[in-house]
Amino acid sequence: MASISNPELAIQSLFPLALGQVQLRPDPLDTALQIQALHQLRGAASSNPDEGCAWTGDLNGVWQLHRQPQFAPLIQTISGHAASYLERLGFDQSRLALHIQRCWPVVSELGQVVGRHHHPNAHLSAVYYLNGDGSGRSGCLRFFPPRQPNELVPGLAVGHDGPIQPNSAATQWNAPWFDLAPRAGLLVLFPASVDHAVLENEDADDSRFSISLDLVLTAPPAPQAGATPASQPASRQASPPEYLAPHPADWQAVDW
Ligand SMILES: [Fe+2]
Repeated sequence: MASISNPELAIQSLFPLALGQVQLRPDPLDTALQIQALHQLRGAASSNPDEGCAWTGDLNGVWQLHRQPQFAPLIQTISGHAASYLERLGFDQSRLALHIQRCWPVVSELGQVVGRHHHPNAHLSAVYYLNGDGSGRSGCLRFFPPRQPNELVPGLAVGHDGPIQPNSAATQWNAPWFDLAPRAGLLVLFPASVDHAVLENEDADDSRFSISLDLVLTAPPAPQAGATPASQPASRQASPPEYLAPHPADWQAVDW
């Protein structure tokens, strides 16, 4: 059997998950005013119905933060970075429309968490941190791998008393999660289908403030009837790409 330090063996990392990060440099006064506004929006509440869960605006009537003047410029900046993320992943932006579906604040007090979940209603998710010192003590964002293709025997890598040596670089191939520490001004972008959670806020001196966004990709708006090429019957229009929903402006609600 060859040595484990075998220099002839190369291991290539395949199918990487695209985690986008941008360190924004907001005006500290703007951030202070936004944190103050989030305090007011939360009101007397201090959690979701489960007291151990952070207060999240999407469950408490505050899910359109992007429409509030105090937050709109920040959300516009975030949207620009979301478009860059899509461009970096190879999407042809001339064939897409990008929508903010929901935008809501999250406020986590000492001891609070957000359980493991994903956002099946959306395609791209984003989190922006208004505070945090990069230490992780206010509660890391934990990402879970969609599956563990290198585990070889299911459970072997993360189960009790497994054979994989801890504290070595090799653990990356079977890491059960990745923790990202909040830092003021940090924007994070990731596929909405990826499971994630927020760990406990262990900072007794500070609440943790973040803003979440759900974004959706659709086809661009269909051309108006008058824009149909002469070679095409007026009753026909260019079709959206097969896997994209038509633009919401082309939908029709059904009375029922
Ligand atoms: Fe989430």
